[in-house]
Amino acid sequence: AGNKTFTMIKPDAVADGHTGAIIKMIEEAGFRIVALKKTVLTPERAGQFYEVHKERGFYNDLCKYMSSGAIVPMILEKDNAVADFRKLIGATNPANADEGTIRKLFAKSIEANAIHGSDSDENAEIEGNFFFARTEKF
Ligand code: CMP
Repeated sequence: AGNKTFTMIKPDAVADGHTGAIIKMIEEAGFRIVALKKTVLTPERAGQFYEVHKERGFYNDLCKYMSSGAIVPMILEKDNAVADFRKLIGATNPANADEGTIRKLFAKSIEANAIHGSDSDENAEIEGNFFFARTEKF
């Protein structure tokens, strides 16, 4: 048991062949994989996922980038999942990410930053349900 968080490995990291290395880091940090798939977002669906950012200057670029290739969404479980996962991935801008974090190791830029992590329990639930049906979570 434990809390849940939602993550997705972003198109740059999937295209560069880092999926396995990132999943290994996630499991070694003590997260249990509840759900996992490889899929693609249309620009419209990326827009829905990032709706909260729609007034931001980077929104259109972000939707284009997030639909540019395959992504690997996952639901993860661990005590204190949201906060511990954000620690594991590091700062949004890889220039500010701590040594040893996933973004420090694999992110290319503030946009192509390798991986997403939910910012609250509530958003983890919403984001997980965006990608996964009840029968895909166990
Ligand atoms: P994430 O925090 O997972 O979700 C919002 C995403 O928008 C973020 O990762 C980056 O991919 C992107 N993003 C955030 N801030 C910027 C920015 N200033 N410029 C470009 N992209 C950004």
